[in-house]
Amino acid sequence: MPRQVCRPTNRGLIHGKLVSMSFQSPQLASQVVLSGHGLVKYYGPVVGLAGVDVGVRAGEALAVMGPSGNGKTTLLHVLAGILTPDQGEVWLGGERVDQLNDAARTVLRRRRLGFVFQDNQLLAELPADENVALPLMVDGVSRRDAIGRARATLAQVGLANEVGRRPGELSGGQAQRVAIARALVGEPQVVFADEPTGALDATTGSQVIDLLIGAATHRGAAVVVVTHDNSVAARCHRTLTIVDGRVHESLGATR
Ligand SMILES: Nc1ncnc2c1ncn2[C@@H]1O[C@H](COP(=O)(O)OP(=O)(O)OP(=O)(O)O)[C@@H](O)[C@H]1O
Ligand SMILES: [Mg+2]
Repeated sequence: MPRQVCRPTNRGLIHGKLVSMSFQSPQLASQVVLSGHGLVKYYGPVVGLAGVDVGVRAGEALAVMGPSGNGKTTLLHVLAGILTPDQGEVWLGGERVDQLNDAARTVLRRRRLGFVFQDNQLLAELPADENVALPLMVDGVSRRDAIGRARATLAQVGLANEVGRRPGELSGGQAQRVAIARALVGEPQVVFADEPTGALDATTGSQVIDLLIGAATHRGAAVVVVTHDNSVAARCHRTLTIVDGRVHESLGATR
């Protein structure tokens, strides 16, 4: 299935600042890009997921909430192909992906998905531009092109002047913006984030989540964000609450 990109009609990232936007094509915006059906996952005798159905559309941000230990990270990892479900199916852009072998899932994660974690997971010895360029170079893009794309993406998250700094020379919020740039540089269809603001103060966390959701959905990517923070969920289009490995509640209008 060909990849499609939503074009923003009004505004986007302006000088690194995020502003709201809409989509030219409601049809495109309503396209389900990622879905899970009847997802069950066990860790030995422990039930991680007990039968979850979920879908997320192009340009949509979905928050996953719920008490600790109830299956949020498990759901994210199953949807992202990091874990395989024991039952159920995962579909990405019209293709069933849960049955792919490890190598194929690794390629899929690198080419079609992006990840942002609580502790940015940047490589300490590399400057920001090389951290962002690395997944492209692993995928065969020349160093010159990869660095060029990395710098352009860093500029979009407001870090044009910090491309040469190592993670230890950046603030927590700046480092997380580098991680967002790394997640976006490969033009993913879905960006997954697990507690992306968990290590940041409230103000910085709000800026980072606005940037993540704005920059991803601006490109027509879907966002799935696990969070304990109501203010993060409030910035998403929908919220799924997971309790005991099941969908307890689904709030928000389907776009
Ligand atoms: N690798 C693992 N081996 C065994 N059990 C696991 C493993 N990972 C998770 N679990 C268990 O699966 C259940 C769901 O865990 P999960 O990490 O999905 O919770 P969570 O909702 O993300 O929690 P938190 O908010 O604390 O991050 C928990 O009971 C947890 O102990
Ligand atoms: Mg978790």
